[in-house]
Amino acid sequence: MATNYDDIADEYLQTKVNPIKKYSEEFTFFQALGDVRQQSVLDLACGDGYYTRAVRRQGAAPVVGIDLSPEMIRQAEAAEAAGPLGITYRVGDVAQMGAVGAFDVVTAVYLLQYAATESELQGMVNAIYANLKPGGRVVMVTGQPDLTEAHLAAQRHYEVIIEPQGPLADGVSIDTTIFVPEGAVKFTNHHWTKAAYARVFRQAGFHSVVWYPMQISAEGLALYPPEYWQPYQQYPAIAVVAGRR
Ligand SMILES: C[S@@+](CC[C@H](N)C(=O)[O-])C[C@H]1O[C@@H](n2cnc3c(N)ncnc32)[C@H](O)[C@@H]1O
Repeated sequence: MATNYDDIADEYLQTKVNPIKKYSEEFTFFQALGDVRQQSVLDLACGDGYYTRAVRRQGAAPVVGIDLSPEMIRQAEAAEAAGPLGITYRVGDVAQMGAVGAFDVVTAVYLLQYAATESELQGMVNAIYANLKPGGRVVMVTGQPDLTEAHLAAQRHYEVIIEPQGPLADGVSIDTTIFVPEGAVKFTNHHWTKAAYARVFRQAGFHSVVWYPMQISAEGLALYPPEYWQPYQQYPAIAVVAGRR
């Protein structure tokens, strides 16, 4: 069943303290993103605006965030009211929304794996393309497209349980549980292979698609011993991908 983030908004925010998110997901994403000063940015599946605010603080402007969940957008707007950065938020379904503007950069941290069918995935990627200026870039975090049993086993070292609901083919549902300080957050998304991503990116019109190896920041490497990072370095459950229009 699809995950409604209205129901898990508070718990989801607690996952940001997981060392994998802090020292690898964020680090690799921003390495791939590069300099966004003076760039217009559309952050899709922005959630409570965690990355939207980070991109704005790095000098991007204007910045717009869109998410399917009214509760996530309510939290993003509350953060904007508490510490105004000039970010605009709106509720929307990326698979259906079409063009809302022409941006230098589109970001999407955990969007694509919420597509349940390839036509929904195509709708999302078409929307990303439609919102980019010619030459503009999209940078995304998504599920590991080369997921294997070894990746599933490795995540258990990091308080994460990933349970595919069938053979690892395109579109199969994946239940994920992340243990957080006050319990656990559970959500369901879908597996997509590199071949499926390549098809939808090509069909949308993207010139290039580049997969970035997951990295760990110097801070993360200093805070935890090599044995801690080893399973994740070999078998990360997420990937960063960028494309250029
Ligand atoms: C795992 S959260 C990520 C939020 C944020 N990017 C972050 O990393 O903190 C996934 C988000 O995707 C949103 N989402 C799922 N399907 C979507 C869709 N079709 N259009 C827009 N947002 C969607 C959910 O509401 C949820 O807020």
